[in-house]
Amino acid sequence: MWSFLLFTLVSSDCVKSNYFTECSASLTRDIIVAGSSDCGKEYPKIYPSQDCTFPCGPGTYLDITEGAMSCLPCQSGTYSIGGGEILGGDGESWESSLSKVISECYINVDDIDYYNLNCTGWTQSDNILISGETTKGYTYTAGLSFSFSIVKQGTVTVTYRKDTVHLNGYKVGFFSIFLNLEMKHFDDEIDDSTWKTITLPLDPGNYEFYLEYRTMKSAKNIEPHAYVSEIRVIGTDWSSTHCHPCKRGGNLPGSSKCDLCDFNYYWDGFDCKTCPNDKYSLKGSVGEESCQPRLECTENDYKHIYSNCTNSSRNLTYQWKEPILCAYQNYTLPSGKYNLSCETCKQGHFIEKTGDVTKCVACPDGKYISNDTNNKCENCTAGYYALKIYNYSDWTELPENFTTNCIMTDGTVCLDSSGWIPSTYYLTTGKNLQSHSEVFLNRYFDIESNFGIIKFEYEFINFQGGSLDAYVDGAWSGGWSQSDFQTGTISLTQGLHYVQWTYWPNSTNSEEIRIYSIKIHGSIEGGAKLCAKCLDGSYSTSGSAICSLCSPGNSSNTDNTGCIPCQNYYYSPIEGSKCYKCPSGTISNNNRTNCIATDYTYLSDETFYLGNITGRGVTEGVYTTGICDMPSSKLYCHQTFYGPLPGDKKNFYVSVMNPSQIVLPSVSYYFKPTSAFAYAVMEKKELTKFKEGSSDVCKNDKAVVSLGSIVSGVNRVREGLKIDYSQGDYCDKYQRTYNSSLLLYCDKSANIGWPAHNNTRHCFYEFVWKTKYGCPVCMFEDMNTIYSSCENGKRTYKKIEGSYCILPFDGDIEWTEPCWDPVLFSWPMLVAGILIGILLLSALVSLLMYVKYHKGYRQLEDQSRNIS
Ligand SMILES: *[C@@H]1O[C@H](CO)[C@@H](O)[C@H](O)[C@H]1NC(C)=O
Ligand SMILES: *[C@@H]1O[C@H](CO)[C@@H](O)[C@H](O)[C@H]1NC(C)=O
Ligand SMILES: *[C@@H]1O[C@H](CO)[C@@H](O)[C@H](O)[C@H]1NC(C)=O
Ligand SMILES: *[C@@H]1O[C@H](CO)[C@@H](O)[C@H](O)[C@H]1NC(C)=O
Ligand SMILES: *[C@@H]1O[C@H](CO)[C@@H](O)[C@H](O)[C@H]1NC(C)=O
Ligand SMILES: *[C@@H]1O[C@H](CO)[C@@H](O)[C@H](O)[C@H]1NC(C)=O
Ligand SMILES: *[C@@H]1O[C@H](CO)[C@@H](O)[C@H](O)[C@H]1NC(C)=O
Ligand SMILES: *[C@@H]1O[C@H](CO)[C@@H](O)[C@H](O)[C@H]1NC(C)=O
Ligand SMILES: *[C@@H]1O[C@H](CO)[C@@H](O)[C@H](O)[C@H]1NC(C)=O
Ligand SMILES: *[C@@H]1O[C@H](CO)[C@@H](O)[C@H](O)[C@H]1NC(C)=O
Ligand SMILES: *[C@@H]1O[C@H](CO)[C@@H](O)[C@H](O)[C@H]1NC(C)=O
Repeated sequence: MWSFLLFTLVSSDCVKSNYFTECSASLTRDIIVAGSSDCGKEYPKIYPSQDCTFPCGPGTYLDITEGAMSCLPCQSGTYSIGGGEILGGDGESWESSLSKVISECYINVDDIDYYNLNCTGWTQSDNILISGETTKGYTYTAGLSFSFSIVKQGTVTVTYRKDTVHLNGYKVGFFSIFLNLEMKHFDDEIDDSTWKTITLPLDPGNYEFYLEYRTMKSAKNIEPHAYVSEIRVIGTDWSSTHCHPCKRGGNLPGSSKCDLCDFNYYWDGFDCKTCPNDKYSLKGSVGEESCQPRLECTENDYKHIYSNCTNSSRNLTYQWKEPILCAYQNYTLPSGKYNLSCETCKQGHFIEKTGDVTKCVACPDGKYISNDTNNKCENCTAGYYALKIYNYSDWTELPENFTTNCIMTDGTVCLDSSGWIPSTYYLTTGKNLQSHSEVFLNRYFDIESNFGIIKFEYEFINFQGGSLDAYVDGAWSGGWSQSDFQTGTISLTQGLHYVQWTYWPNSTNSEEIRIYSIKIHGSIEGGAKLCAKCLDGSYSTSGSAICSLCSPGNSSNTDNTGCIPCQNYYYSPIEGSKCYKCPSGTISNNNRTNCIATDYTYLSDETFYLGNITGRGVTEGVYTTGICDMPSSKLYCHQTFYGPLPGDKKNFYVSVMNPSQIVLPSVSYYFKPTSAFAYAVMEKKELTKFKEGSSDVCKNDKAVVSLGSIVSGVNRVREGLKIDYSQGDYCDKYQRTYNSSLLLYCDKSANIGWPAHNNTRHCFYEFVWKTKYGCPVCMFEDMNTIYSSCENGKRTYKKIEGSYCILPFDGDIEWTEPCWDPVLFSWPMLVAGILIGILLLSALVSLLMYVKYHKGYRQLEDQSRNIS
């Protein structure tokens, strides 16, 4: 078919061109076929009222053959998308298509948007659209819009990259795409190394396409940009009326996209042709002149290959690496070497003999081999696991499953590099790379241990400001730009991860990076040379390759050979966690997965009575008895929670140390449903960190978010009792978990009171409940004493609550003491008493007088008796 087409083109000088009129309201159009002078007198031919809706798929174009419409495949070196338009990329260059779109920019100063003021919109450079600039410190938005209508099922595809950085805990740099004002794509991933392609489906209809990039320029985010290389809309027409030429040719007939000629080939306008024998070319070369004279071969152009080790010897031979770009015809590969000794096994490997062939084999799972174990793998003992290690240090060839590539900032392949080059002892990026090129080294690593670590040794040669970055699953994980020999570390979690190393040269210069080794710990690769101890909360049996996690409520025993339940007053909230002590004032729940309230919260020298507000009974996760039983409060209680409590444009649900998993009609969890102490119902928009006002999408779409799944503290504060909840769901905005606190504020005048949201700070929500229950239980000396009157010689005393404490029970503290009859102390009696006193006194005085005179009289009597 292909050669036949070529033949007809070449043999006939008749060149036909088709012209199409606009489609009428009845969806018909005229097709005019014009012919060159060699085509005969019948041209131009007119085919009136042809059906506009005749469909042709990708890779074909609409033509008229023998008077009827048909879909013909595109010729080699051309392509079609089957009815649509392409801005940039393989389609119409941005230089001319930029005028077809509306490019705008605006800045936000003090919450006011200023359109096209102090900012620049999209510009194009090298057929890439680049967002503009603004002054430091403003929120900058670059918007791009255009409209189109879709007549058959179609798609819109955008190829872009953008800068997103972490700035003071925020992510800055959002890329979003809207169709008819509805957000369809939002990207704030920190993975600026990669070009991304997003494809959105389109039903027939009219569309307003809007794309925006929002960022903020600052000292730490010097030149943030978004780049758009291509916008491809398929379905704006039922068919393509012609095929577009591919800039670098390379593709076969009937293509829907452009391809490239391979290494040592060039595009001659019709076909991929091989370069002359003494010349080479890189992928995507166009024209014979792009074939360059082959350079002299070096040891980087070939690789060494060892034979199997047979009868304790092996042979070494050399082979060219594919593709061969050097002058191999004039170079003789080194001759092989024979009878060499066998390899020494890598760590964790033992020698296995099959017949007379010996091989190094990794120890099986759960076993390790140390230097002194005599070529025998042994079980790791219980409590330990065999940690596998594999070291990539032979760079004869790119090791299995590594891939490499080089792209320019516009996403096209580099012309002078095809990626990292294995150079026997190291991997190198090579020198003199074009500026704006990025050299990738990629590989999947499957981590089977509870965690994994990659350590790699690298060195910059002729350091001139380039950088080496690592990405894990597309997200930036580290950057290195130190000139001397260094070791870089990448940490990985359990599971399969895509790791990419990227070299960005600062400018075209002689800088080069070499990677000498890549050592992976904890993956499924390699063998173990030692046994590592299981972490607390996990355990293993003898011969284990990994440690198993203890289930919630349990933790590992002291030698990590099994799990035991946490003790009383201890809890383990998640799989693989230690047993933690419950904060004072709480006890652990039945299965030791959390801490819960008690009726009396005993702190060092005070006690709080929470029995009426926790709602806790024998059954966990249920509100048993308490103030929610009052008919008036039913509406404001939900499961074990007080709520909905409004505040901060949200609804809150807060429990008093009585967790449960909330179920709300028509609102779902944003994260995994969990049992928690407090929840917020908030707009999803707020959770996606997307700034307010950017989108009307999902306006009423709400989700439940946990504000704390453990009690992290119960403390006496000046105002009352403060309860802290932590480890809620993850709050991306501040890179931490949602936390909350409930202050039971001692206020006896509020009586029972009700909790309320008080304030919000950085994913932390504070609730205040002014209530008598925030006051401690009265101690004897804090109470006021009242007493009754003395009746029948007895008085009744009673202790009552002081102003800042409560009594948790209804009974009274009462006792009696004996007393004097109060009649004795009345006024008339007092007067009478005084009178009696006076009388008694005068009687005493009379008595003394009497005694005195009586004495005198007796003397007189005696004297007179003596005289007589
Ligand atoms: C725009 O820039 C001018 C000159 O630098 C400045 O005076 C003006 O305040 C800026 N406008 C805004 C909205 O920032
Ligand atoms: C090989 O070397 C000869 C002589 O040195 C030279 O003429 C020839 O062009 C070389 N061939 C290639 C492919 O470089
Ligand atoms: C090496 O030996 C294995 C058997 O152990 C055999 O399958 C393989 O083909 C041999 N390779 C070479 C290059 O001889
Ligand atoms: C090494 O090469 C010699 C000679 O070619 C051959 O006899 C021998 O079998 C080879 N040994 C291995 C292990 O392939
Ligand atoms: C084990 O062998 C390796 C290489 O043979 C050596 O570097 C290492 O020091 C040895 N370790 C022990 C503990 O003997
Ligand atoms: C390479 O990847 C394949 C497929 O994922 C896998 O089966 C193979 O074991 C991998 N090889 C190495 C050395 O990891
Ligand atoms: C990047 O290169 C330019 C010129 O090539 C040089 O002036 C600049 O210092 C380099 N940047 C760094 C960080 O070395
Ligand atoms: C090693 O561990 C495995 C699995 O636990 C067990 O089946 C095997 O008997 C153990 N071998 C020795 C030598 O202890
Ligand atoms: C712990 O107990 C609660 C309620 O009693 C139950 O819902 C939960 O599933 C239990 N958790 C575990 C890990 O057993
Ligand atoms: C409520 O929040 C405000 C700050 O918004 C704070 O000043 C005040 O102390 C809080 N009230 C209580 C009772 O903690
Ligand atoms: C607790 O609730 C019970 C029943 O509603 C009530 O009789 C008692 O007075 C309450 N205790 C306190 C300290 O409020």
